Amino acid sequence: MTIAEPVEQLSAPSAPADGVAALEIEGALKYFGKESDSKTPFWRWGANRPAKMTVAVDNISLTVRRGEIFGLLGANGSGKSTLIRLISTLLVPDGGRIRVFGYDVQREERTVRRLINRVSVEASFFKKLSALENLMYAARLYDLPARQAREQARFILRRLGLSEKRLYEPLENMSRGMQQKVAIARGLLTSPVLLLLDEPTTGLDPRSKHDVQRFVLGMRREHDTTVFLTTHDMDEADRLCDRIAIIDEGRIVALDTPANLKRAIGSQIGKNGSTTLEDVFMAYTGKSLDDDFEPSEGVDADDE
Ligand SMILES: Nc1ncnc2c1ncn2[C@@H]1O[C@H](COP(=O)(O)OP(=O)(O)OP(=O)(O)O)[C@@H](O)[C@H]1O
Ligand SMILES: [Mg+2]
Repeated sequence: MTIAEPVEQLSAPSAPADGVAALEIEGALKYFGKESDSKTPFWRWGANRPAKMTVAVDNISLTVRRGEIFGLLGANGSGKSTLIRLISTLLVPDGGRIRVFGYDVQREERTVRRLINRVSVEASFFKKLSALENLMYAARLYDLPARQAREQARFILRRLGLSEKRLYEPLENMSRGMQQKVAIARGLLTSPVLLLLDEPTTGLDPRSKHDVQRFVLGMRREHDTTVFLTTHDMDEADRLCDRIAIIDEGRIVALDTPANLKRAIGSQIGKNGSTTLEDVFMAYTGKSLDDDFEPSEGVDADDE
């Protein structure tokens, strides 16, 4: 494994002003349902608010500091991916305000897009092309010089534990976990300043999970990358994240460092010292993440 090498081949990220929060979310709202397409704005619905509508993100506010690894924990359908899509400008919020390094995701969408990259489990690829060809295609979209992009792509893929000969195989021959690594490599090609990872390790075997986690820590350490990630894996959240927000039905129910969350719940349930994040999650949501977790199928949805 080559993961311990420094990431010196990655180009330096552009440097936004010091002291500005990497991500500021103030009262973000997102509704789904055919009624949300109606011409009546949501603040005029009043008592006539459509019953069938889903409130996917319900007045979420949080701030992520530069260089922080921030985790979003929530059960299936709690709004994690929707929030990530709002930050990455793929969805338009129905209310509230989101800023990335001070730039508004709606008014300064192009600037925001240059500062972020999103990696999701449903990444779309050209399945007949190889990993390297897919990454080179992405590099062209990002206007990266071909030679530099090729070196960078190979370097990242090797560091994520993908063997050299795999780089030239059609993607359709790869397992879901391997394809996920290619998706992660694509997200890192541009050395984003804010990296949005939607379940980056779901479906990976323990060793691959570890490869990805170490790479994420390396990105932060060596490139000051800020990471906003969602996960169902409590150990991952505990190991990687400086702070965690637990969300339930679109709302934040707890937000703190893993240690503080465990301490607070530990003293409530009389389990000081051995409290786990699973206990914390249960205490705040009344749910167990394991109960409802169903790994997503396939990697070929078309939202990218
Ligand atoms: N495009 C859409 N159209 C309608 N409803 C949607 C859409 N996307 C998400 N939703 C709904 O919004 C809610 C939040 O979904 P979201 O995908 O954000 O959850 P999640 O926390 O990412 O779940 P998971 O852990 O399963 O990935 C769910 O009720 C979902 O059904
Ligand atoms: Mg999701």
